[in-house]
Amino acid sequence: MRTDTPITVYRKDYQPYPYDIPEVALAFDLAPDATEVRCTMHVQRKSGASADAALILDGEDLELVSVGVNGKALAADGYHLSDHSLAIYGLPQDATVEIVSRCKPSANSTLMGLYVSGGNFFTQCEAEGFRRITWFADRPDVMSRYRVTLRAQPQYPVLLSNGNLMASRQLPDGRNEVEWEDPFPKPCYLFALVAGNLTHRETTVKTASGRDVLLQVYSDPGSETKTEWALDSLVRALRWDETRFGLELDLDRFMIVAVHDFNMGAMENKGLNIFNAAYVLADADSATDANYEGIESVIGHEYFHNWTGNRVTCRDWFQLSLKEGLTVFRDQEFSADMMAHGMDEAAAASARAVKRIDDVVALRAAQFPEDAGPMAHPIRPESYQEIGNFYTATVYEKGAEVIRMQHTLLGEAGFRAGMDEYFRRHDGQAVTCDDFVAAMESVYVRQHPGRDLSVFRRWYRQAGTPRVTVRLDHDAAARRCTVTLTQDCLPVGVERKAGADYVKAPYHIPFAIGLLDKDGRALPLRHDGAAKETALLELTTQSQQWVFEDIADRPVPSLLRDFSAPVIVDYDWTDEELALLSAHDTNPFARWEAGQELATRQILALAEARQAGRTLHADAAFIEAWRALLTDPVIDAAYRARALALPSEKTLAERMQAVDPPALAVARDFLRAELGRQLAAEFRQAFEQNQTPGEYSPAPVPAGMRALKNLALGHLMAAGEHDAQRLAEQQYDRAGNMTDSIAALSVLINYGQGDFPQEALAAFYDKWRDNPLVVDKWFALQAAARSTTVQTARELMTHPAFTLRNPNRARALIFQFCLNNARGMHHPDGSGYTFWAEQVLALDALNPEIAARLARALDNWSRFVPALRTPMQAALQQVRAHEGLSRNVQEIVSKALE
Ligand code: PHE
Ligand code: ZN
Repeated sequence: MRTDTPITVYRKDYQPYPYDIPEVALAFDLAPDATEVRCTMHVQRKSGASADAALILDGEDLELVSVGVNGKALAADGYHLSDHSLAIYGLPQDATVEIVSRCKPSANSTLMGLYVSGGNFFTQCEAEGFRRITWFADRPDVMSRYRVTLRAQPQYPVLLSNGNLMASRQLPDGRNEVEWEDPFPKPCYLFALVAGNLTHRETTVKTASGRDVLLQVYSDPGSETKTEWALDSLVRALRWDETRFGLELDLDRFMIVAVHDFNMGAMENKGLNIFNAAYVLADADSATDANYEGIESVIGHEYFHNWTGNRVTCRDWFQLSLKEGLTVFRDQEFSADMMAHGMDEAAAASARAVKRIDDVVALRAAQFPEDAGPMAHPIRPESYQEIGNFYTATVYEKGAEVIRMQHTLLGEAGFRAGMDEYFRRHDGQAVTCDDFVAAMESVYVRQHPGRDLSVFRRWYRQAGTPRVTVRLDHDAAARRCTVTLTQDCLPVGVERKAGADYVKAPYHIPFAIGLLDKDGRALPLRHDGAAKETALLELTTQSQQWVFEDIADRPVPSLLRDFSAPVIVDYDWTDEELALLSAHDTNPFARWEAGQELATRQILALAEARQAGRTLHADAAFIEAWRALLTDPVIDAAYRARALALPSEKTLAERMQAVDPPALAVARDFLRAELGRQLAAEFRQAFEQNQTPGEYSPAPVPAGMRALKNLALGHLMAAGEHDAQRLAEQQYDRAGNMTDSIAALSVLINYGQGDFPQEALAAFYDKWRDNPLVVDKWFALQAAARSTTVQTARELMTHPAFTLRNPNRARALIFQFCLNNARGMHHPDGSGYTFWAEQVLALDALNPEIAARLARALDNWSRFVPALRTPMQAALQQVRAHEGLSRNVQEIVSKALE
């Protein structure tokens, strides 16, 4: 195998395509070993294009059968075929081009293009998979209307594609034939087909304007009992987009199909969303609270793409965040609204804070490290080698934060007006991130005469996480408090390579603050002409000051409330001030944050003690802060579970000068056990008072109770508390839902004694061996367990149920081990890194997209302690030296080593 030569594509080089392709007809003769595709397109040279501009089409892994123009076969000198493209010369201004090609779905392990999974056919085209189906202008700014004909043997009775079903018949040769037509022009990355033996659940609903639409969820025969939550979630998503954004479903039919082999979460193909089965199938026995929440959120996400992504799409792949950042923001808001639904004001505020906390935790664990490492890129990248590598936490999650800041700056009504304007200007077009900001800006300038979003636009151009340093001065005589914000953001990744003359400009940062008095009461702040508990400061230069009058004593600042911007805050609170905020801050997000900061200080100190060989000792004041949270009579269980959760090892690592994952793991574990010992009575009470007997419901209140109860159980088990194991065993034996059962099994295999844990593990597998999603959980649990070593991971790989070909299974075992098992992966003998290198190479031969994701596990190697840094670097070099590496993995490892 030959290694692809990496080619860097730059945003600045964008050129419009010289042709329009208004119509495409695709005819498929489906068969696993050889599928023939006839692609007939109507092409028109654009008025500005040169008459001798060739029609250049992309293609990959295809066998070309014939090329015809206006009904006549093209002679060999009329076109030029190379490895990745087909150029057709001498076309008239208006022509019908017909290309017949063949591909082999059964041999397609990349899961891009047309492939077979579980005996059925599926497609995945985003970003550049359509070129593996037929020769085409595989770029998002070429939008066409599609007519699709599918022909297949009767063993594939369900034949689906985008849009509306126009005809269906049986052919004389016994095969079935159907025709679909999608009335909306779309880029080819939104094309999809599904063919196979599937069952479905459906419902009809009336849209806001009174049209009846058919909603369907397809899955494997036998799984029809597991699609109720998915279909209900789809109905909720449809309603929510109508009420919150005034956006209605534009098709008569909307389908979701579950597939077990899928590289990502799900895909928003027009009218035919294809989903990783993990985000569709659920019932109380086999799915956890987190699964239910994930399904609702991903179903919302893909559904919302119908407007933000499909009706208005991206001009080029550099604009990916145009659809992804915006759609993540929309799904976050959807989930928050669903969680707060039907609650009184205080409960709703807490439910929203819980969702915000979970999203920020995810951002800090995945995006902050990315922004500080070799793959750092702006939410709108300036260049890439392989676009598949840019479906990142930065484009998605930081992209959503950048949208959220615009929402914060404009307010809900202003943001909605900006969205309306965006659709008014761009419906049916392929546009850029700039076009989006311009629509928002048209509202912002009306609200704020004399100001604009020109500084704000830097969030799209610059990478890295800005740091905001806060200075608070209090003048007791004048009863005046002055807040100074100063921002810094050092060049990162590619920016650093640009050299000394690369100057980063300040960002426009909406920074929400409150001030508390020494008893924890909120002080009214006069700001923007009103007295409020929270002031939104707009920092637009490197440093600015704000003065608050009528503040008698030096206050305690509550900073970056609701995480109003994706930045790092630098302020030197005392531990006492943090404890005060953790007990009293009226902003639930900032209150949570204060507790997290206390815990972070505590764990970092313990890790240092561990490294220095000192005995570990937990600070009494910290334990008291935790006791206060655990016993606060006001806060609800879901929020309490977040407040008491110790920060993750990933977040903590970002705070270490030289990262030492084993030391962090030991420190965090020590604190978990110590809290369990010192607060045993309180945790026991929390465990008992948060049982959820009766019929299972994934609703936020019972889910929050389970989260708290299982957190308590974890502390008691970690502490080796008398009786804890009996509680865990009992819970495992009697659990009426997967959340409780897997939580009990997890603490048992991590902290349990005797034979019960291993026996339970074996019995669990026997019970669930036919449910692949639960078998994934079984692998994941073991891969991340404290006692799991490289050796154990290798043994698990020999289990008959293990395969690298299924991405969910590979993620459950390999990714869990490499990313979430600090002790096993970062063993000082380097064996974890050798294992990682082997698996990256094995995966790369099958599925480069998945291999490249695993490759990123060592991104930040240069920031680790020297004893780990050296073997990490060696493992990266070993991968880089491998002959035949995919472009995907090549880009990752070469950037990591630069
Ligand atoms: N566009 C999909 C989403 O965010 C993600 C995806 C990308 C899926 C590439 C498959 C391939 O909803
Ligand atoms: Zn998306």
